[in-house]
Amino acid sequence: MLGKTAIVTGAAHRLGRGIALALADVGVNIVVHYRNSDSDAESLRREIEEKGVQCWKIQADLKDEKTCIGVIDDAFGDAKKVDFLINNASVYESKDIMSAALEDLEKNFVVNAWAPFFLSRRFAAKNPSGKIINMIDAHIDGYDFERFPYHSSKEALERITRSLALKFAPGMTVNAVSPGLILPLEGKDYSSIKSKEKEVPLKRHGEPENVADAVLFLLNSDFITGQTIYVDGGAHLVHMVRGGNT
Ligand SMILES: NC(=O)c1ccc[n+]([C@@H]2O[C@H](COP(=O)([O-])OP(=O)(O)OC[C@H]3O[C@@H](n4cnc5c(N)ncnc54)[C@H](OP(=O)(O)O)[C@@H]3O)[C@@H](O)[C@H]2O)c1
Repeated sequence: MLGKTAIVTGAAHRLGRGIALALADVGVNIVVHYRNSDSDAESLRREIEEKGVQCWKIQADLKDEKTCIGVIDDAFGDAKKVDFLINNASVYESKDIMSAALEDLEKNFVVNAWAPFFLSRRFAAKNPSGKIINMIDAHIDGYDFERFPYHSSKEALERITRSLALKFAPGMTVNAVSPGLILPLEGKDYSSIKSKEKEVPLKRHGEPENVADAVLFLLNSDFITGQTIYVDGGAHLVHMVRGGNT
């Protein structure tokens, strides 16, 4: 890990921040991608550099192929070589399956599925021996009628993960981490997820460090590709149905 470089998308706070800090702790230089959270990205950049590794910031709205190509090219321009791509940035909105409009589906698919796809393709062109991790969601094994555009875009990302793992072999590995109940929604505290803990077989929420551990494990492996690790206390075993009538 020492001396390698990783791009972490949507890294300014929450899980992305935790992953970036965990990688920096083991000597990985970090390219912090962010969209709106400039001051959080800047304080993360300083915190990472205090750990003795290099850190660069790249601002971009991952809204199309061109901006994704720009992020990868800028990262290689700054860091010269990039070894890891962590596709973490995400849209997470409530949109019911019966009322979601085309623009809701587009917004979720663009950021959650197609941005990782375009970022990965450009990354593979620049470093055919790199490693990619996609952040999915443990709920993809169940149903989520309350956040249907989000849920279906993450399902697409799971297929993209396996497709690119095969396409980019033998030089690269492409894997995924699917978090379950880890953080409350932005702006809410842990009391807001307390009632959901009873749905988790291990009866508690996880920590960002648990997610970062899985990312590190996959980046350390040379012989795992096309896999998804669930960091969810067993929640995917329950096949939850959110907002359903069953
Ligand atoms: N938190 C959990 O418990 C949990 C559970 C299951 C799965 N996950 C998955 O784990 C990952 C991290 O979760 P999180 O809750 O930490 O994520 P988050 O806070 O919802 O989003 C991470 C970042 O994505 C960026 N982003 C959103 N739209 C963007 C766009 N159009 N272009 C560029 N960046 C954009 C935002 O950056 P700016 O702030 O800079 O705008 C945001 O800070 C996500 O992929 C999520 O689906 C998380």
